[in-house]
Amino acid sequence: MLRQALLVASRSGGVRKIVETAPGIRQVVRRFIAGETIDDALAVTQRLTAENLLVTLDVLGEDTSSERMAEQIVEHYTELLKRLADHGLGSRAEVSLKLTAVGQALDERLALDNARRVCTAARSAGTTVTLDMEDHTTVESTLRILHELRGDFPDVGAVIQSYLRRAEEYCADLAYEGSRVRLCKGAYAAPESVAFGDEDEVDKSYVRCMKVLMAGRGYPMLATHDPRLIEIAGALAVLHDRDPDTFEYQMLYGIRPQEQRRLAEQGDQVRVYVAYGSEWYGYFMRRLAERPANLAFFLRSVASK
Ligand code: FDA
Repeated sequence: MLRQALLVASRSGGVRKIVETAPGIRQVVRRFIAGETIDDALAVTQRLTAENLLVTLDVLGEDTSSERMAEQIVEHYTELLKRLADHGLGSRAEVSLKLTAVGQALDERLALDNARRVCTAARSAGTTVTLDMEDHTTVESTLRILHELRGDFPDVGAVIQSYLRRAEEYCADLAYEGSRVRLCKGAYAAPESVAFGDEDEVDKSYVRCMKVLMAGRGYPMLATHDPRLIEIAGALAVLHDRDPDTFEYQMLYGIRPQEQRRLAEQGDQVRVYVAYGSEWYGYFMRRLAERPANLAFFLRSVASK
């Protein structure tokens, strides 16, 4: 119930105004977000990569409503990728891209062309792009764009959300040689007709998907903070004789940082998803929805101001 309410609030302009102007909100947000500028993002990336972690950078912004806004996001990614290369970070940090940020809701073709420009900039910087998966209404369009892009950029990463009833089928389609696939539970509100509503069902689906990806020929990117799922991932890696460089764990910046380090220290690859930018509201609200303790932390911080 609380999760659903927070996810609905993540799309509400009225709640947005209240949250964005809450006292001390910026300090609370900084727990999950690297900052607002490219310099902030680079500083966090340098710190994490120095600790033997990999990074994927997300420029915050979604639901872009004009071509001009989409253009600004593309230009921002291009600048970010250039700066990553200048700092010699291309081999340790990639970018995550939301297609709605580059115009998917306006025109699929525009989003494809814009995503292609970001992929070109990533290639020049010696790195890759992963297409985040958003609201369930965008899934088929995102997969179409992914397949188009992979024609020229085979290393573009896909994301599959295990809460989708069709998740296992999507994973089977994507478990081919060279295919980078991030598996996550799914962070958006979705109706029962397309997604499992029960947490246990979502977790069981995650395990089924993980089995398909780990047994397959692609490159699984297991995005979860869930200790049980991380343990099963480790067991599957042993079962399928996978070397640590043939898959990776992924976690969000600010969530279970000790676990990120523990896995890296035992020789696994761990990539941290680092979001930054001024459009933090939707991302922040989805993090609150995931964990009541995060909501309590937010309310305590605001109340103490
Ligand atoms: P869940 O939230 O169920 O937590 C499971 C357990 O993990 C908890 O019971 C607790 O033990 C532990 N845990 C979680 N948070 C913790 C905390 N703050 N402190 C301590 N323990 C904690 N979603 C999407 O729809 N599209 C996308 O493209 C992406 N991309 C993405 C990238 C990466 C790298 C990650 C990690 C996640 C995403 N997500 C996403 C978000 C994802 O769908 C999901 O909402 C969150 O990862 C939360 O799910 P968990 O798997 O962590 O489990």
